[in-house]
Amino acid sequence: MHLLMCPPAYFDVAYEINPWMHLDNVPNVDKAKRQWDALYAIITDRIGARVSLIDPQPGLPDMVFTANAGLVEGCVYIPSRFRHAERAGEVPHFERWFQDRQYHRKPLSDGWFEGEGDALSYAGILLAGYGPRSSAAAHPELARILGRDVLSLGLVDGRYYHLDVCFAPLGPNMFAYIPEAFDEAANRALLGLPGEKITLSAEDAQHFGANAVVIGRDIILNTGANSFSAALTERGYHVHETDLSEFLKAGGSAKCLTLILER
Ligand code: ARG
Repeated sequence: MHLLMCPPAYFDVAYEINPWMHLDNVPNVDKAKRQWDALYAIITDRIGARVSLIDPQPGLPDMVFTANAGLVEGCVYIPSRFRHAERAGEVPHFERWFQDRQYHRKPLSDGWFEGEGDALSYAGILLAGYGPRSSAAAHPELARILGRDVLSLGLVDGRYYHLDVCFAPLGPNMFAYIPEAFDEAANRALLGLPGEKITLSAEDAQHFGANAVVIGRDIILNTGANSFSAALTERGYHVHETDLSEFLKAGGSAKCLTLILER
C-alpha cells in the first residue's frame, strides 16, 4: 500500500464548510501535529506501508485532507473539482505533484468531484457519493475515464458529507456504513452488494468510525468508535485506535488524511 499525506503545518479551521467546523472551536495546532505524526508512525513504522508527502501550502488549511486531492488509478490521476472556493486553491498544488511524477492527468469537464473522499472501490465497483459535495453529473465521465462501473450513492445527512465518512470498504467481502447517511435508493443498492455489512451506531458515527484507513488486516481509526472497533477485532482485524480530535474539528479523521496511490 502506498499513500499520499500532507503534513499539517498550516492546518486550521479558518472557515466553515461542513457542520463539524466552527470558527469558535479551532484546533490546537501543536496537538494536531502530534496527532498527525502518530498517525503517520502507525502507517509507516507499525504497519510498514509506504507514504509519500506533498508540501503543505500557507492559506490552504484543509490541504491535509489528501483524500480530496483527486482519484488515482494506476498512472491515471483525476483531479478534484471542489464545490467550495475555499478548497479550490489546493488543486494546482496537487496537480503539480502528480505531473512531476508522470501521472496522466484526466480532468473531468462537468460537475463537482471531491476525489477519493467521494469515490471508494468495493467488490470491483467504484462507489461514488453525491449530494453535499460531489455531484452525480460527474459520475458518467468518471466511469468513462476509468472504464469501470460506477454506482452513484445519494448522501442526505450534512454531517456525513463525503462518502468516506459514512462508508468503509473493509476487504473483498465486508464493508461498514452509516445507513441514515444515504438516501433510500442508495440504501437499497448497498443492501444489494455482496459481503457482510456492518452498520455503525450513532456513537461510532459521531467518532468518525467509518473514516478508517484499511491496510490489509490492519485498520486505523479515531478513538471512541468502541462498538465498531470491537466488531472489527472480533472479525480478526488488528485495530489501531489513535486520537484525531483536532482533525475532527475540521470534519475529518484518519481516512481523509490519506489518499491511495497504490493498493
Ligand atoms: N474541512 C474539510 C472539508 O470540509 C474536511 C475534509 C474531509 N475529507 C474527507 N475526505 N472526508 O472539505
